[in-house]
Amino acid sequence: MSELIITKPDDMHLHLREGAMLKYACKDTEKQFARAIVMPNLKVPITSVNQAENYYQDIKKINRDSNFEPLMTLFFTNALDRDEIRKVSDSSVVHGIKLYPSGVTTNSDNGINTIENCFNIFELMQECEVPLLIHGESNDKSVDIFDREKVFIDRHLSGIHSKFPELRIVFEHISTKEAVDFVIGTNNKVNATITPQHMLLDRNDLLSDGIKPHHYCLPILKRSEDRLAIIKAAVSGSKNFFLGTDSAPHLRHQKESSCGCAGIYSAVCAMELYASIFEAENALDKLENFSSKFGADFYKLPYNKLKIKLIKQEYQVPRKINIGTEEIIPLFAGETLSWQLSEI
Ligand code: NCD
Ligand code: ZN
Repeated sequence: MSELIITKPDDMHLHLREGAMLKYACKDTEKQFARAIVMPNLKVPITSVNQAENYYQDIKKINRDSNFEPLMTLFFTNALDRDEIRKVSDSSVVHGIKLYPSGVTTNSDNGINTIENCFNIFELMQECEVPLLIHGESNDKSVDIFDREKVFIDRHLSGIHSKFPELRIVFEHISTKEAVDFVIGTNNKVNATITPQHMLLDRNDLLSDGIKPHHYCLPILKRSEDRLAIIKAAVSGSKNFFLGTDSAPHLRHQKESSCGCAGIYSAVCAMELYASIFEAENALDKLENFSSKFGADFYKLPYNKLKIKLIKQEYQVPRKINIGTEEIIPLFAGETLSWQLSEI
């Protein structure tokens, strides 16, 4: 196949940031995606529907010339109350609530330490059918970083799912075989987003032959067997797995540092990467459901009317993206990919 036309995809896990970065992140994403679930982990997290509506307007202003539609989320803090859940349930702008165990990743200090204290809110979310989006890693610093996802499943996620079997959960950016198996074992209520980096890279790509700060993200890249299990899930045709890039820009100097930030910027070439993975698995016919339908089904959204075209033609990923005097280094910067997005 040398050309593929599919419904314009949705990125169901995206960091757009704020200030100067917002403009660049939006520009790359709107070419590839019609809509995106926008993460709320700004420096001051988005904790109310009111704040989410303001952030929505900021994003819409930047995208004045496009039809890009941001799908907003709230950041789950200890102060989240039942009234706010009802507001979310009535809101057409906010589509879910993101729970970060406190301190587990970038800008997550205001997250949750004792998940059991959230059970009364989970109960109401279940009743109101508000999706719970979870960064599924343990924040127990004594747990080995490569085991934090598995430990989170055992200590928290399986309990949450058993206690609230109808709660609609997205297990974000899964990185292990255990996470794939867990999702498969639930009754369709637990779904997962899959990033390009967790299908294309493993921990050798991060740590062998020199440390690669631009491959550092959380959950951290795992073993090759995990990577293969995630690919298998993505191309399986199961509607419980859908696209979420977790594209998360950080300035170059913040990544190339003695204490570098976690987050990989893939928005500039996301669909090219997913296409190459699905092609290698002989599963290009499954790409549209994974990218443009299963996520929409989960969030109860109509399918997009617009289409995108991908052509089998070499494409060089930009070496960097200039933001004023600063820069962002995208995933696979300067490398040649075999697919490219084209005008339709
Ligand atoms: C994300 C970020 O930078 O906001 N970083 C990352 O490594 N994925 C946060 C997150 O999703 O964990
Ligand atoms: Zn993320």
